[in-house]
Amino acid sequence: MKYGYFDDKNKEYVITNPRTPVKWINYIGTLDFGGFVDHTGGALICKGDPSLNRIVKYIQQMPSSEFKGETLYLRFKQGGGYKIFSPLFVPTLDPYDLYECHVGLGYTRIISEFYGIRTECVIFIPIHNAREIREVKITNKTGKDLELDAVSVVEYTHFDAVRQFNNADWLPQTMQSRCIREKSGLLTLIQYAFMRRETNVNFFTSSHPISSFESDRKRFLGNNEYGTWSNPLSLQMEELASYEAHRGDNIGALLHHLGSFKPGETKSFITQLGQEQNFEKGRYGIEKYRSPEAVKKAFTEMNGFWDEFLNRIQVETPDSNMNRMLNIHNPRQCFITKNWSRYLSYYQLGIGTRGIGFRDSSQDVMGVIDRIPEESKKLLRQLMMVQRKNGSAMHSFNPLTMEGSKGETEELPDRPQYYGDDHLWIVLAVTAYLKETGDIEFLQEVIPYYEKDEDGRPLERGTVLDHIKRALNFTRNDKGQHNLPHLGFADWNDTVNLRTGAESLFNTHLYGKGLLEMSELCSYLGDMVVVKYYKDEYDKLKKTFNQTSWDGEWYIRYFDPDGTPLGSHKNVHGKIYSNAQSWSLISGMAPSGRAEKALDSLNKLLNTSKGIKLSWPGFNGYDQTKGGITTYPPGAKENGGIFLHTNPWVVIAEAMMGRGERAYEYYNQINPAAKNDIADEYECEPYVYAQNILGDEHPQFGLARNSWLTGTASWMYQAGTRFILGIRPRYDGLEIDPCIPKKWDGFKAVRKYKNAIYNIEVKNPKHINKGISKLKVDGKEIKGNIAPVFGDVKTHFIEAVME
Ligand code: GLC
Repeated sequence: MKYGYFDDKNKEYVITNPRTPVKWINYIGTLDFGGFVDHTGGALICKGDPSLNRIVKYIQQMPSSEFKGETLYLRFKQGGGYKIFSPLFVPTLDPYDLYECHVGLGYTRIISEFYGIRTECVIFIPIHNAREIREVKITNKTGKDLELDAVSVVEYTHFDAVRQFNNADWLPQTMQSRCIREKSGLLTLIQYAFMRRETNVNFFTSSHPISSFESDRKRFLGNNEYGTWSNPLSLQMEELASYEAHRGDNIGALLHHLGSFKPGETKSFITQLGQEQNFEKGRYGIEKYRSPEAVKKAFTEMNGFWDEFLNRIQVETPDSNMNRMLNIHNPRQCFITKNWSRYLSYYQLGIGTRGIGFRDSSQDVMGVIDRIPEESKKLLRQLMMVQRKNGSAMHSFNPLTMEGSKGETEELPDRPQYYGDDHLWIVLAVTAYLKETGDIEFLQEVIPYYEKDEDGRPLERGTVLDHIKRALNFTRNDKGQHNLPHLGFADWNDTVNLRTGAESLFNTHLYGKGLLEMSELCSYLGDMVVVKYYKDEYDKLKKTFNQTSWDGEWYIRYFDPDGTPLGSHKNVHGKIYSNAQSWSLISGMAPSGRAEKALDSLNKLLNTSKGIKLSWPGFNGYDQTKGGITTYPPGAKENGGIFLHTNPWVVIAEAMMGRGERAYEYYNQINPAAKNDIADEYECEPYVYAQNILGDEHPQFGLARNSWLTGTASWMYQAGTRFILGIRPRYDGLEIDPCIPKKWDGFKAVRKYKNAIYNIEVKNPKHINKGISKLKVDGKEIKGNIAPVFGDVKTHFIEAVME
């Protein structure tokens, strides 16, 4: 069964059947103001922080058929009462003649036809004007005169998202709604929690006169809430009660009498949902965005943003699914993960301390540096502000308060209270930023460390260079019995929580890669003494690694404090782990021979037709000594599931070895665009990567979950553009080093780099996987495979031939 199709021309995915296996969502706005809209018009909106300042109540766990957050009802007279239905399908679920949800960049447009009534509802958030806009156009296609009313509805939440769910006494007493009748005759409903009456007021308003409203859910649904969202009893009355809620479950319901429609006639209105300090502060914007021209302008401006964002790199390969992902959906997903980290999605509930993940965002940022360098730099700064003086990092932080959290360490107080990998990612992120932008001065910018004195002042500050040096230094001094880096509470794999003193080969590789990056940077800066310092450490690490961690056919993944390996043929469960193989290549530590063998073992034992499993065999039962991984059944998530984040690392490793067929096969087998035809098995959105797919040890092999907020986005983007297409920024220019399938004749790419446009064509006349033999820059052949930094804003033609 298919639920929709890609419309590449309009950069949309169009859902044509609303009964998708799970809700398919889209993001609007940013973390400053925004959230997501599902394909039936439900929405979750917050301002600045989903945990501390949430506006709309949207409960992901409720069945898909339920009202979630927002909807729109239409009604017309029938019999003695009204026929009520939602043109967004949910929550009334009426039969429709047409249903299309256009998932666009920054907007969702739902077009439907029910009972001869065509509705078009565009939902988006203007770039510089924090408000959710819904522009609704209704057309009478019944062929007869028709009288219609429209009722726009939002259900509010208390701003503190956790309290909304764990307090049903104090909280409902604080919730209030008021109506502001404006001189123009229009009306705005405001809603707030009592203690925020003067500071944070939600507003909901329409461009069309509102004859009556409701702000109390109980009254809206009617009959002491034995009325339902699918049939709110108050909508059988000619007017709503216009009741201003003094407590309880607050909603905003605006009744529009649209009057009579001639056959073919269209009428429209615009609603706005936002938050301001008070109504007066919001008045100007509210009035402005009641005008269709202002809305149109804002929509065009938003499209302009996305065009600029996408146009910075466009590729043309022989593979249309790859083009679609690399040109539209993958960069868009990278923008979303950069904004939301792992905070708010259909699966990440945006509640509590999770916030912005240190390791997550450090990786996400690498997926957008080439398109939004300034915003990337801002995020890098924020991340370094939650780095501790000793170089390690808080696991996550809250973007509004900058308060750090230690993650799940507190659940196991006998284990180390830091993650062994977090801080190391920042080395990769900062150096990636420098290679892209050449903004070397950033290294001298001073950023505070996390610890504060009693007055909240930072205890210590350091330059960016100092921050990344301290990160490496922390791990240098944090090694175990084999002289390999400690695991900490966990490394990248959150769920393997071994006893204190365990060593992690992932941390070894990440540290090794960090040392390589640092040596490269310092050599560019001309500081050869420091280069030697890092090189020596790297060489020692590499030697120790190879002496201790080769298992015969592949590399080991962890050592317990007593020296017992995990990820070895000696283990019953978790014999082999994907990251131990891929990262041995990425860190440059696997010598040839072992490198091929490690990746071949991975191919034999971990690869499936639907992606590469994280490990094998899965644990089958809870084991406190291993931790979280053993809470999952075999084949799920980190316990032998296809954890997609790690798949691009294998693509990168294969590409580094020059094995273009495998790199491409691995890239393709998880491309969601290719899952469109098997949506009933896969279940998640085909236009974004998911975090995981159940592995072949699980009865539901192939089922994806946790779409959107996953490191898969950034790494698939990097694997696709920087390793398969091989276009990699360096300190001295743009390296062209593709590793492609032999059958390709070549490919083209246009990329902005340090202000100039690189118009690249790669030719593959001999049909090989890897190896550039000739590079022409603006018609002149140059040595090597690095296109120089031009220092201008012109277009330059780069022709590369593989031989
Ligand atoms: C989740 C976490 C990420 C972690 C991964 C593997 O995606 O957000 O931080 O690395 O799981 O455990």
